[in-house]
Amino acid sequence: MTSAAHSYPDGSAAFPHRGLVGIAGLAPHEIMFLLDEAEQWVEFNRLPQKHNDRLAGLTIINAFFENSTRTLLSFEIAGKRHGADVVNMHVAQSSVKKGETLIDTATTLNAMHADAIVIRHGSSGAVQLIADKVDCPVLNAGDGQHEHPTQALLDALTIRSAKGAISGLTVTICGDILHSRVARSNILCLTSLGADVRVCAPPALMPAGIEAMQAKPFHDFDAALDGADVVMMLRLQLERMQGEYIPSSREYRHLFGLTQERLARAKPDALVMHPGPMNRGIEIDSDVADLAARSQITRQVEMGVAIRMACLDVLTRRARRVEGWA
Ligand code: NCD
Repeated sequence: MTSAAHSYPDGSAAFPHRGLVGIAGLAPHEIMFLLDEAEQWVEFNRLPQKHNDRLAGLTIINAFFENSTRTLLSFEIAGKRHGADVVNMHVAQSSVKKGETLIDTATTLNAMHADAIVIRHGSSGAVQLIADKVDCPVLNAGDGQHEHPTQALLDALTIRSAKGAISGLTVTICGDILHSRVARSNILCLTSLGADVRVCAPPALMPAGIEAMQAKPFHDFDAALDGADVVMMLRLQLERMQGEYIPSSREYRHLFGLTQERLARAKPDALVMHPGPMNRGIEIDSDVADLAARSQITRQVEMGVAIRMACLDVLTRRARRVEGWA
């Protein structure tokens, strides 16, 4: 499904936001606009020559206060493929370790006249705090348990390219829903695009009031998988847990791990997804993660670069004075 099937306004009215802090607040047509914009970069990234000058002369700062492999690399690659100067701030060697406040760090980044800042931070709300203090667009690369909007967008693009559409699909998200910003952003994104979203977790890892987000909660994984079109598995976010949330990883796998046998409860052509990093043998068995016909895990990484290229392009159009983006 591409723009032909959707209508959204032209120019900056198609995406009127200054930055991308979350999926919350985006209209369905704004999400579709970003997905449609990303399509061209999927094709482009498969070419041997992957460079363009769209963002030449612009400076992008990646400020990652939490560990990352995929997200940091793909934002860096996305900026470089557009010809921008991309700078990664190494938090371990930065003044943050000397006790600098987040606001002072934001003021410092702002004084360097970045044209876009990409932030990952362990505290929910930290990205908005910085976005309010700087003049350029801010992109959230994951803030605490709050949101991870580009992950949800790349997941939506992966599903749409494999299934043709998102509306009407049943998507089962299973794992540590409570601590997962990926789950939150995906619930917001997929329900907004018309999917039925089921969430499955042990009671201690299910957020209270999840029904208010239009997601249907399950504690029985077999029931949650029944007839699903997409199965998205999540890691136990041990770094965000204080105390014991699960009796043991063996027991967790027994009840909530995706095995071949369990996958058979979903539709025969159900997609298997995982944002990474995976804990093979806990939330997902290796033979399922590597199922050639079903697993979308490496496709998700591929879509991630395209989505980040689209987001950086769209959000810097005003600064680049692209026609129609006043
Ligand atoms: C996720 C994250 O950091 O929120 N990973 C990612 O961005 N690909 C999920 C996780 O850490 O489990």
